[in-house]
Amino acid sequence: MQNQIDAAVEHYRKLLNEQLERVERMEKGAKAKDFTAMDKIVIGVCGGDGIGPIIVKQARRVLNALLKDEIASGKVEIREIEGLTIENRLAQNVPIPKETLDAIKECDVLLKGPTTTPKGGTMESANVALRRELDLYANVRPVCVPEENIDWIFYRENTEGEYVLGSKGIEIEGKLSMDFKVTTDVGTKRIARAAFEYAKNNGKTNVAIVTKANIMKKTDGRFSAVCHEVANDYPDITADEWYIDIMTANLVNPEIRSKFQVFVLPNLYGDIITDEAAQIQGGVGTAGSANIGDRYAMFEAIHGSAPRMIEEGIGDYANPSSIFKAAEMMLRHIAMPSKADLLSKALAICNEQEKAVVVTGNRDGATCKEFADYVMKTLDKIY
Ligand code: IPM
Ligand code: MG
Repeated sequence: MQNQIDAAVEHYRKLLNEQLERVERMEKGAKAKDFTAMDKIVIGVCGGDGIGPIIVKQARRVLNALLKDEIASGKVEIREIEGLTIENRLAQNVPIPKETLDAIKECDVLLKGPTTTPKGGTMESANVALRRELDLYANVRPVCVPEENIDWIFYRENTEGEYVLGSKGIEIEGKLSMDFKVTTDVGTKRIARAAFEYAKNNGKTNVAIVTKANIMKKTDGRFSAVCHEVANDYPDITADEWYIDIMTANLVNPEIRSKFQVFVLPNLYGDIITDEAAQIQGGVGTAGSANIGDRYAMFEAIHGSAPRMIEEGIGDYANPSSIFKAAEMMLRHIAMPSKADLLSKALAICNEQEKAVVVTGNRDGATCKEFADYVMKTLDKIY
Protein backbone atom coordinates (compact mmCIF):
# COMPACT_ATOMS: atom_id res chain seq x y z
CA MET A 1 0.00 0.00 0.00
CA GLN A 2 2.87 2.40 0.78
CA ASN A 3 3.86 2.17 -2.89
CA GLN A 4 0.39 3.22 -3.93
CA ILE A 5 0.45 6.14 -1.50
CA ASP A 6 3.82 7.29 -2.80
CA ALA A 7 2.59 7.06 -6.38
CA ALA A 8 -0.53 9.01 -5.47
CA VAL A 9 1.47 11.78 -3.78
CA GLU A 10 3.73 12.02 -6.81
CA HIS A 11 0.67 12.13 -9.06
CA TYR A 12 -0.77 14.90 -6.92
CA ARG A 13 2.40 16.97 -7.13
CA LYS A 14 2.27 16.68 -10.91
CA LEU A 15 -1.37 17.79 -11.00
CA LEU A 16 -0.66 20.78 -8.83
CA ASN A 17 2.18 21.89 -11.09
CA GLU A 18 0.07 21.40 -14.21
CA GLN A 19 -2.74 23.47 -12.73
CA LEU A 20 -0.37 26.26 -11.74
CA GLU A 21 0.94 26.28 -15.31
CA ARG A 22 -2.65 26.56 -16.54
CA VAL A 23 -3.15 29.53 -14.20
CA GLU A 24 -0.11 31.20 -15.71
CA ARG A 25 -1.41 30.65 -19.23
CA MET A 26 -4.78 32.11 -18.25
CA GLU A 27 -3.15 35.09 -16.60
CA LYS A 28 -1.47 35.94 -19.89
CA GLY A 29 -4.96 36.03 -21.38
CA ALA A 30 -6.01 36.37 -25.00
CA LYS A 31 -7.84 39.10 -26.81
CA ALA A 32 -11.42 38.30 -27.81
CA LYS A 33 -12.06 38.06 -31.55
CA ASP A 34 -13.93 40.90 -33.22
CA PHE A 35 -16.23 39.23 -35.74
CA THR A 36 -17.41 42.52 -37.17
CA ALA A 37 -13.87 43.16 -38.45
CA MET A 38 -13.32 39.78 -40.09
CA ASP A 39 -13.35 39.29 -43.87
CA LYS A 40 -14.14 35.63 -43.59
CA ILE A 41 -15.71 33.49 -40.90
CA VAL A 42 -15.23 29.71 -40.92
CA ILE A 43 -17.97 27.72 -39.22
CA GLY A 44 -16.98 24.13 -38.47
CA VAL A 45 -19.84 21.67 -38.29
CA CYS A 46 -19.49 18.26 -36.74
CA GLY A 47 -22.11 15.57 -36.19
CA GLY A 48 -20.79 13.66 -33.18
CA ASP A 49 -22.42 10.40 -32.05
CA GLY A 50 -25.87 8.87 -31.69
CA ILE A 51 -28.56 11.31 -32.77
CA GLY A 52 -25.85 13.97 -33.33
CA PRO A 53 -25.39 13.52 -37.09
CA ILE A 54 -29.19 13.45 -37.55
CA ILE A 55 -29.87 16.77 -35.82
CA VAL A 56 -26.70 18.49 -37.06
CA LYS A 57 -27.56 17.64 -40.67
CA GLN A 58 -30.79 19.59 -40.28
CA ALA A 59 -29.07 22.48 -38.51
CA ARG A 60 -26.67 22.69 -41.41
CA ARG A 61 -29.57 22.91 -43.87
CA VAL A 62 -31.06 25.76 -41.86
CA LEU A 63 -27.71 27.58 -41.73
CA ASN A 64 -27.16 27.10 -45.46
CA ALA A 65 -30.53 28.73 -46.08
CA LEU A 66 -30.03 31.58 -43.63
CA LEU A 67 -26.47 32.34 -44.80
CA LYS A 68 -27.02 31.74 -48.51
CA ASP A 69 -25.71 35.16 -49.57
CA GLU A 70 -22.77 35.18 -47.17
CA ILE A 71 -21.70 31.72 -48.33
CA ALA A 72 -22.03 32.73 -51.98
CA SER A 73 -19.91 35.85 -51.44
CA GLY A 74 -17.25 33.93 -49.48
CA LYS A 75 -17.84 35.87 -46.26
CA VAL A 76 -18.84 32.61 -44.53
CA GLU A 77 -17.60 29.10 -45.09
CA ILE A 78 -19.34 26.13 -43.53
CA ARG A 79 -16.82 23.34 -43.16
CA GLU A 80 -17.51 19.70 -42.28
CA ILE A 81 -15.29 18.42 -39.46
CA GLU A 82 -14.71 14.67 -39.61
CA GLY A 83 -13.62 12.11 -37.10
CA LEU A 84 -15.21 13.10 -33.79
CA THR A 85 -16.96 9.76 -33.32
CA ILE A 86 -16.85 7.38 -30.39
CA GLU A 87 -15.52 4.59 -32.67
CA ASN A 88 -12.65 6.76 -33.81
CA ARG A 89 -11.90 8.03 -30.32
CA LEU A 90 -11.87 4.52 -28.83
CA ALA A 91 -9.73 3.18 -31.69
CA GLN A 92 -7.14 5.92 -31.14
CA ASN A 93 -7.68 5.95 -27.37
CA VAL A 94 -7.87 9.77 -27.26
CA PRO A 95 -10.76 12.12 -26.41
CA ILE A 96 -10.23 14.09 -29.65
CA PRO A 97 -8.25 12.66 -32.59
CA LYS A 98 -5.36 15.02 -33.39
CA GLU A 99 -6.38 15.65 -37.03
CA THR A 100 -9.87 16.52 -35.83
CA LEU A 101 -8.61 18.97 -33.23
CA ASP A 102 -6.28 20.58 -35.78
CA ALA A 103 -9.18 20.96 -38.21
CA ILE A 104 -11.36 22.49 -35.47
CA LYS A 105 -8.63 24.99 -34.63
CA GLU A 106 -8.67 26.18 -38.24
CA CYS A 107 -12.28 27.29 -37.75
CA ASP A 108 -13.53 30.36 -35.90
CA VAL A 109 -16.57 28.71 -34.38
CA LEU A 110 -17.90 25.18 -34.17
CA LEU A 111 -21.43 23.80 -34.24
CA LYS A 112 -21.18 20.39 -32.67
CA GLY A 113 -23.54 17.47 -32.19
CA PRO A 114 -23.47 15.55 -28.89
CA THR A 115 -20.68 13.05 -28.32
CA THR A 116 -20.90 9.86 -26.29
CA THR A 117 -18.88 9.77 -23.06
CA PRO A 118 -17.91 6.29 -21.85
CA LYS A 119 -18.76 5.83 -18.15
CA GLY A 120 -15.84 4.95 -15.85
CA GLY A 121 -12.44 4.02 -17.30
CA THR A 122 -10.01 6.79 -18.09
CA MET A 123 -11.29 7.97 -21.49
CA GLU A 124 -12.06 11.65 -21.09
CA SER A 125 -15.25 13.15 -22.47
CA ALA A 126 -14.71 14.75 -25.90
CA ASN A 127 -16.77 17.71 -24.71
CA VAL A 128 -14.65 18.32 -21.68
CA ALA A 129 -11.46 17.94 -23.75
CA LEU A 130 -12.71 20.40 -26.38
CA ARG A 131 -13.67 22.93 -23.75
CA ARG A 132 -10.18 22.62 -22.29
CA GLU A 133 -8.21 22.53 -25.57
CA LEU A 134 -10.06 25.56 -26.94
CA ASP A 135 -10.23 27.23 -23.51
CA LEU A 136 -13.99 27.71 -23.72
CA TYR A 137 -14.47 29.04 -20.24
CA ALA A 138 -18.05 30.29 -20.35
CA ASN A 139 -20.87 27.83 -20.82
CA VAL A 140 -23.83 30.08 -21.51
CA ARG A 141 -27.29 28.53 -21.37
CA PRO A 142 -30.44 30.63 -21.71
CA VAL A 143 -33.84 29.30 -20.63
CA CYS A 144 -37.07 31.16 -21.34
CA VAL A 145 -40.70 30.44 -20.56
CA PRO A 146 -42.41 33.64 -21.71
CA GLU A 147 -45.88 32.78 -20.39
CA GLU A 148 -44.39 32.39 -16.93
CA ASN A 149 -42.14 35.40 -17.19
CA ILE A 150 -39.06 33.19 -16.91
CA ASP A 151 -36.01 34.64 -18.63
CA TRP A 152 -32.90 33.03 -17.19
CA ILE A 153 -29.36 32.86 -18.39
CA PHE A 154 -26.79 30.57 -16.80
CA TYR A 155 -23.08 31.34 -16.84
CA ARG A 156 -21.52 28.02 -15.98
CA GLU A 157 -17.75 27.94 -15.46
CA ASN A 158 -16.66 25.49 -18.10
CA THR A 159 -12.97 24.66 -17.77
CA GLU A 160 -12.26 23.88 -14.13
CA GLY A 161 -14.14 22.90 -10.97
CA GLU A 162 -14.98 19.23 -10.73
CA TYR A 163 -14.27 18.62 -14.42
CA VAL A 164 -10.67 19.66 -15.02
CA LEU A 165 -9.20 16.70 -13.14
CA GLY A 166 -12.27 14.50 -13.43
CA SER A 167 -10.32 11.78 -15.23
CA LYS A 168 -7.23 12.17 -13.05
CA GLY A 169 -8.32 11.05 -9.62
CA ILE A 170 -6.44 8.77 -7.26
CA GLU A 171 -7.28 5.21 -6.27
CA ILE A 172 -5.96 2.95 -3.54
CA GLU A 173 -7.21 -0.41 -4.70
CA GLY A 174 -10.02 -1.90 -2.69
CA LYS A 175 -9.82 1.01 -0.23
CA LEU A 176 -10.68 4.43 -1.56
CA SER A 177 -10.97 6.80 -4.50
CA MET A 178 -10.32 10.54 -4.54
CA ASP A 179 -11.21 13.10 -7.19
CA PHE A 180 -10.12 16.72 -7.20
CA LYS A 181 -11.92 19.99 -7.68
CA VAL A 182 -10.03 23.09 -8.76
CA THR A 183 -11.06 26.75 -8.48
CA THR A 184 -8.65 29.45 -9.57
CA ASP A 185 -8.84 33.21 -9.10
CA VAL A 186 -8.23 33.99 -12.74
CA GLY A 187 -10.63 31.28 -13.94
CA THR A 188 -13.38 32.54 -11.65
CA LYS A 189 -12.76 36.18 -12.48
CA ARG A 190 -13.27 35.64 -16.19
CA ILE A 191 -16.57 33.74 -15.82
CA ALA A 192 -17.85 36.25 -13.25
CA ARG A 193 -16.85 39.10 -15.57
CA ALA A 194 -18.74 37.45 -18.45
CA ALA A 195 -21.88 37.09 -16.32
CA PHE A 196 -21.83 40.64 -14.97
CA GLU A 197 -21.01 42.13 -18.38
CA TYR A 198 -23.98 40.26 -19.83
CA ALA A 199 -26.18 41.61 -17.05
CA LYS A 200 -24.95 45.16 -17.59
CA ASN A 201 -25.35 45.05 -21.37
CA ASN A 202 -28.80 43.50 -21.28
CA GLY A 203 -30.56 45.58 -18.66
CA LYS A 204 -30.45 42.90 -15.96
CA THR A 205 -30.33 43.99 -12.36
CA ASN A 206 -29.43 40.84 -10.47
CA VAL A 207 -26.85 38.07 -10.59
CA ALA A 208 -27.23 34.96 -8.44
CA ILE A 209 -23.90 33.50 -7.34
CA VAL A 210 -24.60 29.82 -6.69
CA THR A 211 -22.19 27.56 -4.80
CA LYS A 212 -22.00 25.18 -1.86
CA ALA A 213 -19.43 27.30 -0.09
CA ASN A 214 -20.64 26.15 3.32
CA ILE A 215 -19.29 22.66 2.52
CA MET A 216 -16.74 23.04 -0.29
CA LYS A 217 -15.00 25.72 1.69
CA LYS A 218 -11.81 26.17 -0.28
CA THR A 219 -12.99 25.87 -3.88
CA ASP A 220 -16.54 27.21 -3.69
CA GLY A 221 -15.44 29.63 -1.00
CA ARG A 222 -12.96 31.11 -3.45
CA PHE A 223 -15.50 31.06 -6.29
CA SER A 224 -18.00 33.01 -4.21
CA ALA A 225 -15.43 35.51 -2.90
CA VAL A 226 -14.02 36.23 -6.34
CA CYS A 227 -17.51 36.67 -7.84
CA HIS A 228 -18.35 39.20 -5.12
CA GLU A 229 -15.10 41.01 -5.81
CA VAL A 230 -16.03 41.30 -9.49
CA ALA A 231 -19.55 42.39 -8.48
CA ASN A 232 -18.02 45.47 -6.83
CA ASP A 233 -17.31 46.81 -10.30
CA TYR A 234 -21.04 46.72 -11.10
CA PRO A 235 -22.76 48.91 -8.51
CA ASP A 236 -26.07 48.90 -10.41
CA ILE A 237 -26.37 45.14 -10.28
CA THR A 238 -27.16 43.31 -7.06
CA ALA A 239 -25.27 40.10 -6.40
CA ASP A 240 -27.00 37.49 -4.27
CA GLU A 241 -25.39 34.50 -2.63
CA TRP A 242 -27.25 31.20 -2.92
CA TYR A 243 -26.49 27.57 -2.18
CA ILE A 244 -27.03 25.12 -4.98
CA ASP A 245 -29.42 22.86 -3.04
CA ILE A 246 -31.96 25.56 -2.28
CA MET A 247 -31.52 27.02 -5.76
CA THR A 248 -32.58 23.71 -7.33
CA ALA A 249 -35.71 23.94 -5.17
CA ASN A 250 -36.25 27.60 -6.11
CA LEU A 251 -36.33 26.76 -9.80
CA VAL A 252 -39.37 24.54 -9.30
CA ASN A 253 -41.08 27.10 -7.07
CA PRO A 254 -43.43 29.07 -9.34
CA GLU A 255 -43.91 31.69 -6.61
CA ILE A 256 -40.36 33.00 -6.83
CA ARG A 257 -38.56 31.58 -9.81
CA SER A 258 -39.36 34.35 -12.26
CA LYS A 259 -37.37 36.85 -10.19
CA PHE A 260 -34.05 35.22 -11.10
CA GLN A 261 -32.19 36.65 -14.08
CA VAL A 262 -28.51 35.77 -14.40
CA PHE A 263 -26.77 32.88 -12.65
CA VAL A 264 -23.04 32.30 -12.27
CA LEU A 265 -21.84 29.01 -10.92
CA PRO A 266 -19.07 26.38 -10.85
CA ASN A 267 -18.94 23.68 -13.48
CA LEU A 268 -20.78 20.70 -11.98
CA TYR A 269 -23.61 22.65 -10.35
CA GLY A 270 -24.02 24.46 -13.66
CA ASP A 271 -24.20 21.15 -15.48
CA ILE A 272 -26.94 19.82 -13.22
CA ILE A 273 -29.07 22.92 -12.79
CA THR A 274 -29.12 23.73 -16.51
CA ASP A 275 -30.71 20.35 -17.24
CA GLU A 276 -33.30 21.13 -14.58
CA ALA A 277 -33.91 24.57 -16.07
CA ALA A 278 -34.15 23.15 -19.60
CA GLN A 279 -36.76 20.67 -18.37
CA ILE A 280 -38.84 23.56 -17.04
CA GLN A 281 -38.68 25.09 -20.51
CA GLY A 282 -39.97 21.90 -22.14
CA GLY A 283 -37.14 19.38 -22.01
CA VAL A 284 -33.43 19.12 -22.62
CA GLY A 285 -34.23 18.83 -26.33
CA THR A 286 -35.25 22.49 -26.31
CA ALA A 287 -32.22 24.32 -24.88
CA GLY A 288 -29.13 25.54 -26.69
CA SER A 289 -25.68 25.88 -25.22
CA ALA A 290 -22.76 28.15 -26.05
CA ASN A 291 -19.18 27.44 -24.98
CA ILE A 292 -17.30 30.68 -25.30
CA GLY A 293 -13.63 31.47 -25.07
CA ASP A 294 -11.59 34.39 -26.31
CA ARG A 295 -10.29 32.71 -29.46
CA TYR A 296 -12.82 29.98 -30.15
CA ALA A 297 -16.44 29.26 -29.45
CA MET A 298 -18.44 26.06 -29.71
CA PHE A 299 -22.20 25.76 -29.90
CA GLU A 300 -24.06 22.58 -29.09
CA ALA A 301 -27.28 21.00 -27.93
CA ILE A 302 -27.57 20.82 -24.16
CA HIS A 303 -28.50 17.12 -24.30
CA GLY A 304 -26.44 13.99 -24.91
CA SER A 305 -26.20 11.64 -27.88
CA ALA A 306 -29.28 9.62 -26.84
CA PRO A 307 -27.85 6.17 -27.66
CA ARG A 308 -31.13 4.63 -26.50
CA MET A 309 -33.01 6.35 -29.32
CA ILE A 310 -30.56 4.85 -31.81
CA GLU A 311 -30.85 1.37 -30.26
CA GLU A 312 -34.63 1.58 -30.45
CA GLY A 313 -34.43 2.71 -34.07
CA ILE A 314 -36.11 6.06 -33.45
CA GLY A 315 -33.11 8.35 -34.04
CA ASP A 316 -34.89 10.05 -36.93
CA TYR A 317 -37.49 11.30 -34.45
CA ALA A 318 -34.95 13.29 -32.43
CA ASN A 319 -35.83 16.90 -31.68
CA PRO A 320 -33.44 19.32 -33.41
CA SER A 321 -34.71 22.37 -31.49
CA SER A 322 -31.79 22.37 -29.11
CA ILE A 323 -29.15 22.39 -31.85
CA PHE A 324 -31.20 25.02 -33.73
CA LYS A 325 -31.09 27.23 -30.61
CA ALA A 326 -27.35 26.61 -30.48
CA ALA A 327 -27.11 27.74 -34.12
CA GLU A 328 -29.05 30.88 -33.18
CA MET A 329 -26.58 31.63 -30.39
CA MET A 330 -23.73 31.04 -32.82
CA LEU A 331 -25.15 33.56 -35.30
CA ARG A 332 -25.40 36.11 -32.52
CA HIS A 333 -21.82 35.39 -31.45
CA ILE A 334 -20.43 35.92 -34.95
CA ALA A 335 -22.10 39.32 -35.07
CA MET A 336 -25.05 38.38 -37.27
CA PRO A 337 -27.87 39.36 -34.90
CA SER A 338 -30.50 39.86 -37.61
CA LYS A 339 -29.99 36.28 -38.83
CA ALA A 340 -30.15 35.06 -35.24
CA ASP A 341 -33.39 37.01 -34.71
CA LEU A 342 -34.93 35.40 -37.79
CA LEU A 343 -34.12 31.91 -36.55
CA SER A 344 -35.32 32.77 -33.06
CA LYS A 345 -38.61 34.09 -34.47
CA ALA A 346 -39.10 31.01 -36.65
CA LEU A 347 -38.42 28.70 -33.70
CA ALA A 348 -40.88 30.61 -31.52
CA ILE A 349 -43.56 30.25 -34.22
CA CYS A 350 -42.86 26.54 -34.73
CA ASN A 351 -42.43 25.54 -31.09
CA GLU A 352 -44.68 27.93 -29.19
CA GLN A 353 -47.26 29.63 -31.40
CA GLU A 354 -48.40 27.58 -34.40
CA LYS A 355 -47.06 24.16 -33.43
CA ALA A 356 -48.21 22.69 -36.75
CA VAL A 357 -45.45 20.05 -36.69
CA VAL A 358 -44.56 18.58 -33.31
CA VAL A 359 -41.56 16.40 -32.46
CA THR A 360 -42.09 14.10 -29.48
CA GLY A 361 -38.90 12.08 -29.69
CA ASN A 362 -40.98 9.07 -30.64
CA ARG A 363 -42.82 7.53 -33.59
CA ASP A 364 -46.04 9.33 -32.64
CA GLY A 365 -44.40 12.65 -33.49
CA ALA A 366 -42.82 14.26 -36.53
CA THR A 367 -39.31 13.37 -37.65
CA CYS A 368 -36.34 15.63 -37.20
CA LYS A 369 -36.34 16.34 -40.94
CA GLU A 370 -40.06 17.12 -41.04
CA PHE A 371 -39.59 19.62 -38.25
CA ALA A 372 -36.61 21.18 -40.04
CA ASP A 373 -38.72 21.49 -43.22
CA TYR A 374 -41.32 23.31 -41.14
CA VAL A 375 -38.71 25.71 -39.72
CA MET A 376 -37.33 26.37 -43.22
CA LYS A 377 -40.80 27.08 -44.58
CA THR A 378 -41.47 29.42 -41.67
CA LEU A 379 -38.16 31.20 -42.31
CA ASP A 380 -39.19 31.68 -45.93
CA LYS A 381 -42.45 33.26 -44.82
CA ILE A 382 -40.92 35.74 -42.38
CA TYR A 383 -37.81 36.57 -44.42
C1 IPM B 1 -23.30 19.11 -20.79
C2 IPM B 1 -23.08 17.63 -20.77
C3 IPM B 1 -21.58 17.37 -20.65
C4 IPM B 1 -21.14 17.91 -19.32
C5 IPM B 1 -21.17 15.91 -20.81
C6 IPM B 1 -21.63 15.36 -22.13
C7 IPM B 1 -19.69 15.74 -20.66
O1 IPM B 1 -23.80 17.04 -19.75
O2 IPM B 1 -22.80 19.77 -21.70
O3 IPM B 1 -24.00 19.61 -19.91
O4 IPM B 1 -21.18 17.20 -18.30
O5 IPM B 1 -20.75 19.06 -19.29
MG1 MG C 1 -25.11 18.35 -18.75
